[in-house]
Amino acid sequence: MGKPQQGILQPAGKLARFMVFTLRDDKFLRRALVSLKELADQRNTVVGIGQSLVLAMGAKVVGLRTFPEYAGKGFDVPSTSYALWVWLQGDDEGDLLHRGRRLADELAPTFQCARSVHGFTHAEGRDLTGYVDGTENPTGEKGRAVGILDGAGETLDGSSFVAVQQWVHDFDRFDDLSQSEQDNSIGRKKSNNEEIDDAPASAHVKKTAQEQFSPPAFILRRSMPWSEGDEGGLMFIAFGRSFDAFDTQMRSMVGLDDGIPDALFRFTRPITGAYFWCPPMMGDRLDLQLLGI
Ligand code: HEM
Repeated sequence: MGKPQQGILQPAGKLARFMVFTLRDDKFLRRALVSLKELADQRNTVVGIGQSLVLAMGAKVVGLRTFPEYAGKGFDVPSTSYALWVWLQGDDEGDLLHRGRRLADELAPTFQCARSVHGFTHAEGRDLTGYVDGTENPTGEKGRAVGILDGAGETLDGSSFVAVQQWVHDFDRFDDLSQSEQDNSIGRKKSNNEEIDDAPASAHVKKTAQEQFSPPAFILRRSMPWSEGDEGGLMFIAFGRSFDAFDTQMRSMVGLDDGIPDALFRFTRPITGAYFWCPPMMGDRLDLQLLGI
């Protein structure tokens, strides 16, 4: 089986930089993609390719599509597609800054960085609301089986499909909720992370309980908090063998199935939403055969 990009499965380090790029000028596109293959250091850089870039190469990646837009009762789930997504992982802010700058320089003028967001771990894996994020995440072999394609053919095996959404928290609204309202919004207790069995149907873990769907909708979440100035939230990242499990969950959160939106929307909203294909590795480089590179 093709090897996955290591950063998808390994622990991510304390800090991150999330960069998205648009395709600005396709004159030297092949050359830029050749540099990308080498720049994508397999240990601490994860690269995702958007549908517009695949189309620009006259190629097709079976299973890749654009992010769907949804509207729920009083909120929107936007679709903001990009050509390229890069997740730089590390433990040193300065190092991440310089790696990001080098990457943007190497990819210019073909690609233009549209957004660069600083990510970090908080209180040993908690979201900025204080809740532990990732408890029900599949780990080890199960995580790999959920997140990485296998048996899909030589060029796709080892690759993955990732959904990325930047959520902005309204901390004032969240702080205005009582402790039990907060706990019931998530469906777990902040104090000890215990699941609340009789939580309302709108509780986040009820809307997303992976085994309740038919077929079960398992995803490999690698989300991280982000901040900029006084703003912050969650950079939600979910890897899968297709986008179907993520989409099933998103539709459930919006309330398209039962008319009940996820209580999370009371205090946090997504401002971006994009799908990418994360190619496999060949040796220590990205395998971009499917793009003809
Ligand atoms: C700001 C946005 C979000 C926050 C703060 C958040 C936070 C959390 C927390 C605290 C948990 C409970 C612990 C755990 O099992 O990880 C959880 C569970 C989960 N979340 Fe989210 N989440 C967010 C967005 C999403 C989105 C967009 C999806 C998918 C569309 C999602 C899917 C899941 C799943 C699958 C679980 C585990 C459910 C289970 O099987 O028990 N989350 N989330």
